[in-house]
Amino acid sequence: MKTFKQAERVQTLPKQFFASLTEKVQKVVNEGHDVINLGQGNPDQPTPPHIVEAMREAVKSPGNHKYSPFRGLATFKEAAAEFYKREYGVDINPADEVAVLFGGKAGLVEIPQVLLNSGDTVLVPDPGYPDYLSGVSLSGARMAKMPLKEENHFLPDYGTIPEEDLQKAKLMFLNYPNNPTGAVATPAFFRDTVSLASKHDICVVHDFAYGAIGFEGQKPVSFLETDGAKDVGIEIYTLSKTYNMAGWRVGFAVGNKSVIEALNILQDHLYVSLFGAIQEAAETALLGPQKCVDELVATYEKRRKTLIDGLQRIGWDVSAPAGSFFAWLKVPAGFSSVEFADLLLNEIKVAVAPGVGFGEHGEGYVRVGLLTSLERLEEVVKRIENLKLFDK
Ligand SMILES: Cc1ncc(COP(=O)(O)O)c(C=O)c1O
Repeated sequence: MKTFKQAERVQTLPKQFFASLTEKVQKVVNEGHDVINLGQGNPDQPTPPHIVEAMREAVKSPGNHKYSPFRGLATFKEAAAEFYKREYGVDINPADEVAVLFGGKAGLVEIPQVLLNSGDTVLVPDPGYPDYLSGVSLSGARMAKMPLKEENHFLPDYGTIPEEDLQKAKLMFLNYPNNPTGAVATPAFFRDTVSLASKHDICVVHDFAYGAIGFEGQKPVSFLETDGAKDVGIEIYTLSKTYNMAGWRVGFAVGNKSVIEALNILQDHLYVSLFGAIQEAAETALLGPQKCVDELVATYEKRRKTLIDGLQRIGWDVSAPAGSFFAWLKVPAGFSSVEFADLLLNEIKVAVAPGVGFGEHGEGYVRVGLLTSLERLEEVVKRIENLKLFDK
């Protein structure tokens, strides 16, 4: 059998750091150990039953067995607009300010393809969600990293971005509540972002994947709530986390209509839209009862308390996340993030994601997903206590 050579654009894609983590974890599982895997970001609970029921009904409809309309169902785009009005008080025109996406990931990878040319500059958070790098790599653009530091509450410090990068930048990725740090943005930070973006003609892409998940009663702010945000950017929303629909692959982009049009043109070439039944079920998710979302946030909040209080009790000096379903924990002195993650996996069979996998500024931390039961999180604390790493 011949082996065909991969195109350069495939060969130069960034290494999937987390594929090697998954392999390491699987090896320990295969050895028969009871691994508690907190290394991934896959919601552990099922989609709420009323959404599954809406899907069941929608599947029966012959209209959904045909190609769905290019650019998605009008009713789904109207639902997205109504959701933004209800949740954030933001006016969105469903006709030209919404693009239907096969999940947020697809939109994030498509954006650089539709806005950048080879050699253009993109501002990317470090640490950050690895898929920003994938899209940038495919487009042949150049990345300028914006460090997210604890002393700045994990927000980029725009004052430290080199002038040359600001002059050249065409695109900026942001993500709050943040994966991996759990930080949230403030309205003032988003106002500064709009000013910077207008001054330098930068398109802002705000990834709002964890938009529903804020703790201690704090609802995360949408970038589009900021005056002038639609002039300079878009927000990407996914149903994966808010409604435990990660497997369904459904999301949307909202905001600046020139960017929405560019996304839609590319998608006209790549796909017909999502299965109509999924879009109809997504309408039910967005417009139906939202009690499931409150319950989800309450569940994550209890888990957060169990984990963080437990770790603090055994002497590990950790901070609680303000949003998302991740905790970002500083590794004890003397370990790199990979060494510490390896220690937890090999010694106590707890998998966490080493911070360096999210970028060089993630070094010194591990990311822990709040994606298992309270009992298992208590067990994690117990196993870590048994390592006797901390003075109480
Ligand atoms: C920060 C962030 N953005 C986007 C996504 C993509 O979500 P999806 O493609 O399921 O919509 C994820 C998923 O883990 C994420 O963590």
